[in-house]
Amino acid sequence: MERHINTIGVLTSGGDAPGMNAAIRAVTRTARSNNINVIGIQRGYQGLIDKEFLKFTSSSVSNTIQRGGTILKTARSKAFMTEEGRKQAYANMVEAGIDALVVIGGNGSLTGAQLFAREYDIPIIGLPGTIDNDLYGTDSTIGYDSALNTIVECVDKIRDTANSHDRIFFIEVMGRDAGFLAQNSAIASGAEAAIIPEGSTDVDQLAEFIERGKRKSKNSAIVLVSEAQKDGVGGAFYYAERVKKEYPQFDARVTILGHLQRGGTPSAYDRILASRMGYAAIEALLEGQRNIMVGIKNDEIVYVPISRAVKMNKPINQELITVLNVLSL
Ligand code: F6P
Repeated sequence: MERHINTIGVLTSGGDAPGMNAAIRAVTRTARSNNINVIGIQRGYQGLIDKEFLKFTSSSVSNTIQRGGTILKTARSKAFMTEEGRKQAYANMVEAGIDALVVIGGNGSLTGAQLFAREYDIPIIGLPGTIDNDLYGTDSTIGYDSALNTIVECVDKIRDTANSHDRIFFIEVMGRDAGFLAQNSAIASGAEAAIIPEGSTDVDQLAEFIERGKRKSKNSAIVLVSEAQKDGVGGAFYYAERVKKEYPQFDARVTILGHLQRGGTPSAYDRILASRMGYAAIEALLEGQRNIMVGIKNDEIVYVPISRAVKMNKPINQELITVLNVLSL
């Protein structure tokens, strides 16, 4: 039987991503224009457990579309991973009259949503909010484009000094298990190579690649590295050390871009994506849909079961690997 949705809760969870505020704004305003009450839940699932609830009106989200971070704050709640924590969260939801949830977050957050929905029969709509772009069923996640642009801006700056000193830079970017940021920022910044978790990189192969560049009178090189650990050290340090040891003729340096990739004003693309997805989340709830993630495919909004979005692997398009290899020579 279809449930009447009177009040929704909206939260952001996991790593913040530029565009999350645009999504909160779109969810709030679309809900209000359908006479649905909105409760902003602070600090993700932790706020659901601690009853950090704010009554949201349309003006609560004024002047936020251009802001990075999340006005609702975020957390990676350990308590919500326990049965006891989820029980408390559900009790608080019932007490506050929240009939459905919109969860904006990445893989871990949507996995939590799936579990919660299954245990307590709650309608949940997920919005993919993560700079990693690692959710299956959507071409892009909210925050990915902004982070990519931030990385490219940084790499352009590093290129100046790399070139002046004839150096190789290993630049580490986020994306523990997914190489979208590394691969695409490498293409966009004209880098020599990308080392991503989806590929297998050999140090000899890398050195040969850089040598080839040198023969073509390139005097510096940029290698984008996904942050995945190798032998207990960060990927960029691992490869820089190996290259220095085996090919001392290369003057290698490491830059870790770290959390600056997650901050800053969202790109126009992310603002539009988040606005469309937030609107679609409420439309989906009104249509009686539940436990789905809103995605975008070929510029069309799609709905994907959360279970598929979090479980299936989103592959890197092989063409991107070829493009980088051919164009970097
Ligand atoms: O999931 C988003 C992300 O930025 C990952 O790319 C990164 O590995 C992780 O979060 C870092 O998390 P934290 O900010 O908790 O250290």
